[in-house]
Amino acid sequence: MPTRVDGLHGKPLVTQEAMRARIRELGRQITADYAQKELIMIGVLKGAYAFYADLARAIRVPLKVDFLVVSSNAGRAGSSGKIKVLTELTEDIAGRDVLLVEDIVDSGRTVRHLRNALSTRTPKSIKVCTLLNKPDRRRVEVRVDYVGFTIPNKFVVGYGLDYRQQYRNLPYLAVLDKVDEEGEPV
Ligand code: IMP
Ligand code: MG
Repeated sequence: MPTRVDGLHGKPLVTQEAMRARIRELGRQITADYAQKELIMIGVLKGAYAFYADLARAIRVPLKVDFLVVSSNAGRAGSSGKIKVLTELTEDIAGRDVLLVEDIVDSGRTVRHLRNALSTRTPKSIKVCTLLNKPDRRRVEVRVDYVGFTIPNKFVVGYGLDYRQQYRNLPYLAVLDKVDEEGEPV
């Protein structure tokens, strides 16, 4: 397992094997929960792209796919903290069962914002599935229905997650070595 890619010094946090196994479990659970429902999976881009693709293929009920491009990094140093939804859904979600798919729930602001925005379109239900949950960093209360891994307060990259738009293509999750006392990368 490489620990250094493109100058990144990072320790693997979740291996590809562990990730595959956990996503299979989530897929089974979601398959059971959404039997007889009208599932629309909404992926939050860019961070969720890798998880979304693997999760969708682990789910065995009919579903529709859709995406939102969101720029947030809410609460992160060097960001405005404003959550901007940059695109529109292409599917009508009224009366449907929406599963919002996120890479990571950190402060909770992005999920809160998206839950509120989506609920104005009167879906039958909204649930949230996140690959990673960082409860130590929570600033607002949000309900998260499915969690891949609960992780400590570390800045992670890879498998879709970035640091300044880099490292999204790492095939595993790594912890950035150089972070300050707030957990912000330096
Ligand atoms: P929020 O603070 O819960 O609104 O999360 C906002 C966004 O910050 C997430 O969707 C990620 O894109 C990003 N983020 C939070 N923690 C990390 C991390 O450890 N690595 C990479 N991106 C992160
Ligand atoms: Mg991000």
